[in-house]
Amino acid sequence: MSKKLLTKERNPSILILDFGSQYSELIARRIRETNVFSLVVSNCISIDEINHINPQGIILSGGPNSVYAINAPKCNKEIFNLGIPVLGICYGMQLMVKELGGSVTPAIKKAEYGRAPINIDYKNDLLCDVANKSIMWMSHGDSINSLPNGFNKIAHTENTLHAAISNNEKNLYGVQFHPEVIHSEFGMTVIKNFVFGISKCVADWTTKTFLEETIPKIKEQVGNKKVLLALSGGVDSSTLAFLLNKAIGDQLTCMFIDQGFMRKGEPEFLMDFFDKKFRIKVKYINARERFIEKLKGVTDPEEKRNIIGVEFIRVFEEESNRLGPFHYLAQGTLYPDVIESAGTKVDPNTGERIAVKIKSHHNVGGLPKDLQFKLVEPLRKLFKDEVRKLGANLGLPDEIIKRHPFPGPGLAIRILGEVTNEKLNCLRDADWIVRDEIKKAGLYNEIWQAFAVLLPVKTVGVMGDKRTYAWPIVLRCVSSEDGMTADWSRIPNAILERISNRIVNEVNQVNRVVFDITSKPPGTIEWE
Ligand code: XMP
Repeated sequence: MSKKLLTKERNPSILILDFGSQYSELIARRIRETNVFSLVVSNCISIDEINHINPQGIILSGGPNSVYAINAPKCNKEIFNLGIPVLGICYGMQLMVKELGGSVTPAIKKAEYGRAPINIDYKNDLLCDVANKSIMWMSHGDSINSLPNGFNKIAHTENTLHAAISNNEKNLYGVQFHPEVIHSEFGMTVIKNFVFGISKCVADWTTKTFLEETIPKIKEQVGNKKVLLALSGGVDSSTLAFLLNKAIGDQLTCMFIDQGFMRKGEPEFLMDFFDKKFRIKVKYINARERFIEKLKGVTDPEEKRNIIGVEFIRVFEEESNRLGPFHYLAQGTLYPDVIESAGTKVDPNTGERIAVKIKSHHNVGGLPKDLQFKLVEPLRKLFKDEVRKLGANLGLPDEIIKRHPFPGPGLAIRILGEVTNEKLNCLRDADWIVRDEIKKAGLYNEIWQAFAVLLPVKTVGVMGDKRTYAWPIVLRCVSSEDGMTADWSRIPNAILERISNRIVNEVNQVNRVVFDITSKPPGTIEWE
């Protein structure tokens, strides 16, 4: 079989070599915010590969190691002789110093964590427009002891002699602080100075250029073949549906599997929106009975997730056989998934990625061997905020773009223990009230997730002259940046009161509402 050559991918203007920092992705995002395309690559990238990519600047990320540790990650030293500007951040700066003949020592007494005012010694290209004494965010144990030839100190802090350094002649720079972190007051200025002033990048990475480059690429990859997309109603799969519809029109079939665990009105909204309003072909598959049947008597949360995942694959397999054949499966894989995931393999003949696993949002494991699709993943270089922008640009409404994250197994993991239709109906009604009141109060976009949880115990209440024994509903509202950590939202009492009154009055079988005031950690966002 001949090797199919696809249109060349856009090369990143700034390449970020990853030395294991939790902030490597954040550096890439910050640079993209300036409309410059950047990618995170392994610290082991070869000089040939770098030359092939031909970036305009290179950033060496931070990392958890000491440069003197036995297995400390390194990069090829030739990077410093390519004539490409390099900025080392924290570990990246220390590595550059060590490799070029300077020295680094453990700062036993002077480890510096948190905010520190920097004193600018020399305002060169890297620090121009950075205010003296402004706060930068530090996180390091080691410090630079002596600089390599040709380098100068350009800033210091109370505890760190070399807070920023430069070799202007060779365009090599280093900062001990983290300019990518929001707490660094002039961090973005430092990043822009490096990206534009020093590396001379052009701000041309926009939704418009992304569309202009991506649509012909999708057309070229797919040819006249048919593409299947499992639509979940989330922002990724919805944006993908719009993008593919624009690129290949009728060759796209969307499949929406209704497991019965979505929120009130959502399946109807989705079908109405895609199928009727935008005439994007969506096959609605009502699989509610199948899923609830499988969950009978099941109380363990992981078993529930697993059963839902396996059943999803079964329905998906049956329906794709019925509607197909399809050559391609479209997935809303995003950049963070690509950096981390191993759920794909590559076809040695065409270089195309093949799915062995459906995106984790659907919470499923491997695809059957005879059902391995080639993948269309046009969003795989994008971050979530870029997908939102793209979705808005393609005409998706706020209801989808700004929708709170919703777990793949849906309401099934918000009913603790066994899931029944009766409990589902009750939770849907309570959840509707929570969303309605949070939206009316103008809080929806400030909150990461706001939802109701049903507890399978009966509590005592009194209504009229009678005692009641009914379920309690938990109100869970959290603020978060990424779902990894979260704090409970301080909802005004008047709104809490309205939510509680409405739920108890309007939802059958509920007589109590409690508010979860646990942060994550130690709690989690979901209750199962
Ligand atoms: P936790 O509860 O772990 O949730 O603090 C973190 C984020 O992940 C979502 N979540 C899930 N998403 N399938 C999903 O697709 C799941 O099984 C699942 N469990 C939790 C949760 O809603 C939150 O945004």
